[in-house]
This record gives sequence, structure tokens and C-alpha cells, in this order.
Amino acid sequence: MNSQLRTFLSLADAVIITDEEHTILAVNAAYETITGYASDQIIGKGAGVLRSPYTPASTYKSMKEAIHSGSSWSGVFTNHKRNRELWHSSITITPFEMEGTTYFVGMFRELEQLDRGYYLDDERVGQIQGSLLKVLAISCEIRDPGIESHLLRVQNLTEQLVRKHNDRLGLKLRPSYLSRIAHSSILHDIGKSSIPEGILYKPGPLADYERKIIEMHTLIGVDIVDKIYAELDDELFESELATAKNIILHHHERWDGTGYPHRLQGDQIPLEARIVSVVDVFDALTTKRPYKEKWDAETALRYLTEQKGKQFDPEIVDSFLAMNTVVK
Ligand SMILES: [Fe+2]
Ligand SMILES: [Fe+2]
Repeated sequence: MNSQLRTFLSLADAVIITDEEHTILAVNAAYETITGYASDQIIGKGAGVLRSPYTPASTYKSMKEAIHSGSSWSGVFTNHKRNRELWHSSITITPFEMEGTTYFVGMFRELEQLDRGYYLDDERVGQIQGSLLKVLAISCEIRDPGIESHLLRVQNLTEQLVRKHNDRLGLKLRPSYLSRIAHSSILHDIGKSSIPEGILYKPGPLADYERKIIEMHTLIGVDIVDKIYAELDDELFESELATAKNIILHHHERWDGTGYPHRLQGDQIPLEARIVSVVDVFDALTTKRPYKEKWDAETALRYLTEQKGKQFDPEIVDSFLAMNTVVK
């Protein structure tokens, strides 16, 4: 690299140099200290490696537009350090043309405190996402009077079950993923909002075509969520979206591959869907429905046990049985 460019690396502020494709070519010592990355761990990677969802997509957009048109750009980034801590900084990126090649030089100034900006801590974000999803789920299924309590019970049990399962098997899943599963579980039947009431609440057995229509609620649900998130268009919700869609689409898959809609088998079924499936069935069994009486918890647990390896992931059933709070 050109010696003129190297000069930037001796600055006291964190400095990053990338090529035109945003591939990292060099970082300086201050950058290494702040981010916790040694330069050889990150040279050759895309400049987006430190990206967090807390920097709005519009910030990246305006940055890219500016620097690719040859102007320098300043703004605020919230990035992840190597240890996943958040790092708020004001950054100036300047394009340099040298010997026919364009380089981007980014200089960071750490912000001790943001007095205004886009930063919300994980817990706040979780709470906001949680309440939004709850309102959404309940309003979509408002026709069913018992639905709110079913959804809240499913969410509660899911929360307990993911934690138990994670601890029991030592899966070391990220806490944010665990709470995302619990939040999203409330949406599992959102697609039922588009199923005719006559079929949905029909007492007694369903005709084949009626069952086919009910099975559509998995596909319709994904479609509804896609539309909502397209409207939100916010990176903050991206991982939330993926988890919710897995649950909505696959909560009726069965471990033995005979479920719907995609007849997935075993761990082809996303973990979040396997978990919600156990909880959803348990709650349905222990609640009175138009077509069935309420089972006591013991009988329902026996059913789950019988279905180990058939309808359900056996390990998840074991985790469920290992919880001691399932009895209503
Ligand atoms: Fe369902
Ligand atoms: Fe349900």
C-alpha cells in the first residue's frame, strides 16, 4: 500500500482503510485496541464485519452514495466489538484516488455518550419487539375468545422450555435467540386469521378439504408476516423475522416427517418450530376446544411421551418433562 495512505494509520483515532469493494486492507493500532480484533483477523474481510442492527440501513445507504460519488461522508455508527459489546462512534470516511485505484479511509471517533441517536439497548429492543408481536398476534386472532390466554400460555411455556432445553443439553444458544423464540412463538397461528370461521371452529370431524384449508394457515401466516416486515423495512427486525417465519411455517411438522406443510424430518425442522410444536400441542390438549374436552396435565404429558420420535423431537419432550411448572 502507498506510503501516503500508511500515514493515516499513525493517527491516534481508530483508522480503517478499505478498497473500493469495502474489503479491509489495513487498520491501525487504535482500531485494534478499541474493537479487540488484531489486524490479521480482519484484513481481507468486508468492512461490514462489525456491523450491528443498531445502525439504521439509511445510514449505510447515505454513506455508500456519498463515498462512491467521490465525496467524504460523516455519520454515526453503532458497531459490535469482537466481544459483542456495542461501540458507538462518529466516523468520517473519505475516498482517495491513488494511481488509478480508489481507497476509502475511515476515521472513528468514539462517542462516550450519545445524546441523541438510534441506540436502544438489547432489553429495550426486546420489549418493544415483544409488545408489537403480541398486539399483532392477538389482533389477528381476535375472533377466537380463548386465543389470548392460549397465546400467552404458549409464550410462557416456550420461554421456559427453550431455557431448560438449552441448559439441559448445554447448547450455549445466544440469550437473544432464546428470547426471540419466546417472542415469536406468539405468532405461530397468525395465519388462522384468514381461515373461514365455519371451518376453524367447526365442532366434530373435518372433511378432507376442510383440513387442507386449515393446513393453509402455516403458509398464509408467513405471507402475513412478510407483508408486515416489508412495511417495517427495518434491520432491527430481521432476525426476529427469520425466527417467526420458521415457527409459523413449521410448527405442524412432525419429527417423523409426516407433518405439514413441507414434511420436514428430524432436525431439518428448525429448533424453534420443534419447541413451539410441543408447547402448542400440550396447551391444546389441556384446554377445552369446541371439538374436544380438556385433558388433565398428566394425560397430556403421557401423550407427549408416547409421541417421542414420532410427532416430537424426543430431546425436547425430555426437556419439557424436566420442567416442573407445566401443570396449570
Ligand atoms: Fe397452528
Ligand atoms: Fe396454537
